[in-house]
Amino acid sequence: MILIDGKKTASEIRNELKIEISRLVELGKNIPGLVAVLVGENPASEIYVRSKAKACEEIGMRSKVEKLGANIDEEELLALVSKYNNDNNYHGILVQLPLPKHISEDKVIEAISPRKDVDGFHPISIGNLVIGKDTFVSCTPAGIQELLIRYKIETKGKHVVVLGRSNIVGKPIANIMLQKKEGANSIVTVCHSATKNISYFTRQADILIAAIGSPNFVKSDMVKEGVVVIDVGINRVEDKNSKKGYRVVGDVDFESVAPLSSFITPVPGGVGPMTIAMLLKNTFKAYLKIGG
Ligand code: GUN
Repeated sequence: MILIDGKKTASEIRNELKIEISRLVELGKNIPGLVAVLVGENPASEIYVRSKAKACEEIGMRSKVEKLGANIDEEELLALVSKYNNDNNYHGILVQLPLPKHISEDKVIEAISPRKDVDGFHPISIGNLVIGKDTFVSCTPAGIQELLIRYKIETKGKHVVVLGRSNIVGKPIANIMLQKKEGANSIVTVCHSATKNISYFTRQADILIAAIGSPNFVKSDMVKEGVVVIDVGINRVEDKNSKKGYRVVGDVDFESVAPLSSFITPVPGGVGPMTIAMLLKNTFKAYLKIGG
């Protein structure tokens, strides 16, 4: 069994980008920039946005956080997005979700220029992914594929079973793995809440990607020997022995499934750290495409 170290891989990606950016600085060129828009006072969102900004700064990328009150009008937010669409110092625009109820998330996402859509949430980005054109892919699924490639895991002709059909993970990763490309070219099955006898499908998986948000859902009797397990779950479960009173577990019962698997991602330290690394990578890609 090989443990897939997402923390180490994410750090490698950040270092690669740091070197690229230092070259730009040496050449006296403009550097890539990311603006993150945070609306309201959701504590989880604040932590995410702070981590994203810090990650930018650590690799020498320009970073800005636009913090707006929860009462801001939809029009004001749309105007701010439009301003950054036309700002050559910012190549990536990220609006942290969720937004307050009086603002349409769809409208805001659609207002972001697809050239700067580093989250890959714009319908044009998603459409391009489905038809196999080069595009921005949302960061968690992009990170999963990056792990499969960097760990040289064979995907061609393999049966990938995805648990979950969210717009952020399940649907994009299913579409990525379907592409006739490196790190893909797989046979894909997507299971979801209406799937009966889920074990029938999971037992066929050469690569099992769990993204359902259900703690320790996948047990050892649901997988075949040699399976590659990618666990996207981040679930808090009560733990009286821990100082915090809880611990974080994935969607896969790691203890029982790991001995059967050929590769497996731990939680934490697997897929999670890849998300921000891929956001940085997408921002660098936007910079190269837009042309500095
Ligand atoms: N909220 C939870 N995850 C994400 C993400 O990846 N991007 C944005 N913009 N908001 C989120």
